[in-house]
Amino acid sequence: MTTGTKDIFAGHAKLERNITLLAIFAFLAVIIGGIVEIGPLFWIDNTIEKVKGMRPYTPLEQAGRDIYVREGCYLCHSQMIRPFRDEVERYGHYSLAAESMYDHPFQWGSERTGPDLARVGGKYSDAWHVQHLKDPRSVVPESIMPSYAFLAQTPLSAGEGGTMQGELKALRLAGVPYSDADIASADDDLKAQATDSGADLARRYPGAQSRDFDGQPGRLTEMDALVAYLQVLGTMVDVNGAAAQEMLTGEQGQ
Ligand code: HEC
Repeated sequence: MTTGTKDIFAGHAKLERNITLLAIFAFLAVIIGGIVEIGPLFWIDNTIEKVKGMRPYTPLEQAGRDIYVREGCYLCHSQMIRPFRDEVERYGHYSLAAESMYDHPFQWGSERTGPDLARVGGKYSDAWHVQHLKDPRSVVPESIMPSYAFLAQTPLSAGEGGTMQGELKALRLAGVPYSDADIASADDDLKAQATDSGADLARRYPGAQSRDFDGQPGRLTEMDALVAYLQVLGTMVDVNGAAAQEMLTGEQGQ
């Protein structure tokens, strides 16, 4: 043993036997550990790189998201494509942190009885989703997914008391940048998006698709909302486009 290590042992013996010294050093160790763990939370906003195209969910998409959470779809489906070759080849570009920045609560999930849904938007037609949700085995014979046919029969009564305004306000408190206009017209937006008249909506929510999603024109059902939500998943950011590549290589910055 070298003299140096001997000194350390001697010092440590002293520390262990002196309650005051032990208390001071234990306190210092906790402080350092605490700073390392808690400090970064104060700069969390800087750790999510901004990505072009991200926007808050429209009221209809958000209502669909509530149904997704209510029905426990996350128990079988994750929404996070990990940066591994097998995942990227199956599901598409790996998920970016910013893509779930407006998700409260996030739906990353830890279970995949069914496939990841992070980029399912645009993969199938609305009619496919409606048919699949009503009777999964009619489109995928070996499917073990439950049937959600009742969604097409249930009128959409979003949020508390049939309004989305409160929910949008709550999400704004959590950091989702809904404007006063978004909140004021939340219920009109919800109906407009499901009836193909969402011109004003598309101005405030770029890229929002407006149409009858459940194949029952004239009826606003929970199926409309859920399909609108599924169709937007993973489509906001053009991950393979030029803008995203610039962002990924860090040329665009914050
Ligand atoms: C018991 C587990 C389970 C639950 C709960 C579940 N699913 Fe599935 N889901 C699956 C399985 C397994 C598949 C793959 C076979 C198929 O396509 O039906 C699947 C497939 C899908 C697909 C097609 C994905 C693709 O890329 O082909 C979508 C969309 C989907 N589910 C949506 C939902 C939604 C929305 C809910 C909640 C309303 C839900 N699932 C609930 C198991 C589940």
